[in-house]
Amino acid sequence: MDNFFVKVKQIELLKKEVLMPERFWGEHDGVDFPHVVLAQQFSREHLIEIFSLASILKKMLGKGKMVDWLYGNIILTLFYEPSTRTRLSHETAAWRLGARVMSSENAAEFSSAIKGETMEDSIRIVSAMADLVVMRHKETGSAKKAALVNCSPIINGGDGRGQHPTQALLDVFTINEHFGKVDGLKVAMVGDLKRGRTVRSLAYMLSKFENVEIIFVAPEIAQMADDIKEHLDDNGVNWRTEYDLAKAASEADVIYMTRYQLERAETEKERHMLEEVSKQHVMNRKIAGLMPENSIIMHPLPRVAEIRWSVDQNQRAKYFEQAENGIYIRMALLTMILKPEKANELLNLH
Ligand code: CP
Repeated sequence: MDNFFVKVKQIELLKKEVLMPERFWGEHDGVDFPHVVLAQQFSREHLIEIFSLASILKKMLGKGKMVDWLYGNIILTLFYEPSTRTRLSHETAAWRLGARVMSSENAAEFSSAIKGETMEDSIRIVSAMADLVVMRHKETGSAKKAALVNCSPIINGGDGRGQHPTQALLDVFTINEHFGKVDGLKVAMVGDLKRGRTVRSLAYMLSKFENVEIIFVAPEIAQMADDIKEHLDDNGVNWRTEYDLAKAASEADVIYMTRYQLERAETEKERHMLEEVSKQHVMNRKIAGLMPENSIIMHPLPRVAEIRWSVDQNQRAKYFEQAENGIYIRMALLTMILKPEKANELLNLH
């Protein structure tokens, strides 16, 4: 009960302080924008608006360009788990927008977590220092917990096996940019769907669109969890499981490959089994060649061996551009959260 009242007070304060326009607000399961915690907190309209702003920023703010819109803001990247893309693209976005960045890139070892400080206490403390916190944590649900105690907006950079909403935003942005739409597309998700948070967030986000079809390509040990399948059923999304990657490749508009998350195996035996099954679904030149002409191959990265390097030359390989799009999606979010009037101005101008 305490948390609820604290949250309402904080959200009211944020609304007052940043003059957040109502239309940017989304709510799901007690979590509101400007916190970015769950993929399902965004409405279709919010998504279109974020994609429009990211598209404008992609044209305006490439390498070598900087603006001062976020001057005066300090952004903290607090990462209890390793990252290359999520942390550095948030930091790049912050620098290009004129904010200053503080980073704790190995917070599990080099913050007071090692002395037993709870994540919630750490968040309370850093909220007095930073205007926005991007956090990655090994515990599922940690971002929501942080959002409920936090005075500064929280961006979930990945919480255990839970979610990775900014990854889903950049994924769907990339799909929308390539096809000019998301409605009516067939997306095959391949690999460790059980332990991967990116595919969970992606499935939630795709369910906001019309007539999307999802194919889950994984062995039983790595199949998508039932809560996601139930969510898709409840939202009228067609989905099926498929073991044969070649069959899925021949019909999908998007093949979304993922890595087997060996580090999340609970026993040595499970780890060994995952290593074995990871060899079953590999994107190579032959499989890529079966895909429709205008289809794309995506991957949240890092990849290990599930996409052969030879596929990088294929016109359908989209994963490096997809990763770059993360900078523009994160620029759009930072601007909407910390300088909404600038976001409005850019959206009205273009
Ligand atoms: N896609 C992704 O989350 O990559 P990192 O782990 O490098 O941040």
